[in-house]
Amino acid sequence: MRQKVTLIPGDGIGPEIIAATVRVLEAAGAEIDWETHIIGAQALEKQGTTIPDEALESIKRNRIALKGPLTTPVGKGFTSVNVALRKALDLYANVRPVRALPNVPCRYPELDLVIIRENTEDLYSGLEHVVVPGVVESLKIITEKASLRISKYAFEYARKNKRRKVTAFHKANIMKLSDGLFLECFYRAASEYPEIQAEDKIIDNACMQLVMKPEQFDVIVMENLYGDIVSDLCAGLIGGLGLAPGANIGEQGAVFEAVHGSAPDIAGQGIANPTAILLSAIMMLRHIEKHDIANNIENALIEVYKEGKVRTKDMGGNSKTAEFANAVIEKLS
Ligand code: NAI
Repeated sequence: MRQKVTLIPGDGIGPEIIAATVRVLEAAGAEIDWETHIIGAQALEKQGTTIPDEALESIKRNRIALKGPLTTPVGKGFTSVNVALRKALDLYANVRPVRALPNVPCRYPELDLVIIRENTEDLYSGLEHVVVPGVVESLKIITEKASLRISKYAFEYARKNKRRKVTAFHKANIMKLSDGLFLECFYRAASEYPEIQAEDKIIDNACMQLVMKPEQFDVIVMENLYGDIVSDLCAGLIGGLGLAPGANIGEQGAVFEAVHGSAPDIAGQGIANPTAILLSAIMMLRHIEKHDIANNIENALIEVYKEGKVRTKDMGGNSKTAEFANAVIEKLS
């Protein structure tokens, strides 16, 4: 059955890796009708808003989007469009699998864990103000509703995907009220899933453990800011940002995107690695029950890595984004 999907090419390397991914999906016979919408800085310039209504409506209608990275100006300018989009659609669960691909030089080739990040609140609420010149206040919002919801999502994910353990990362020793509430909700949710082990770790120790013994973790759940930082750390454990996919999931829909950003340092050169966004598209295909196509593309991708002849620059090769996509297409069955 054909499926409509909203396509957001994004900024920087976004259009390059999205074009490569769309080509692979089409070659695999994914039967998707793409509705392309521009959001972010380009939309602001042309339409006076970073998220035009028709783009939001398209995602709400289709309930599925594949999105390239969007640039957020540092220290000035408009606030993050990614954060705004997640809030507007209440995409509360950010799911980031961390799994190495064969033949990729990395510290933990056997690693297989999943990060579940709360996506709607915490210090990302954007509530900042100047108290007096030289003093600013940034509010960390943690609610029982969002903490319980993300914790339940993590346990539900573990049950569905036959995972054995969920670990909460927090700093409840210092932020006794906010992280304390998050932790309390975590254990409340855990009580409904007796077959899944629940444990918690203070985030600073947890980061050290992740670098030294990451195989002890299975599913990890945490607040927004910790999740943002820890998922980049985990991408580093399996070979870099070019390989880490993600999904933002809520009741109203799901937006699939790579963990990495718009990589302005390599944009426009056609050398970005499309693997992370392709893996995100594979997650999307599974979400819409196109399992055979997802498996076909995943196997082809794994074959390309196993063979090791076609590699992008970040993987030590000199193949272009488009050449990498061609190699995956050639391996499709
Ligand atoms: P970044 O992830 O864009 O880049 C970090 C480093 O990784 C750079 O050296 C880049 O060249 C490399 N890299 C990233 N993706 C790659 C790929 N697919 N292939 C090869 N190399 C890759 O992070 P940075 O520089 O901190 O952020 C740039 C912009 O992206 C910022 O405006 C930031 O706000 C935005 N951003 C957007 C995200 C999103 O749309 N979901 C997520 C993260 C950042």
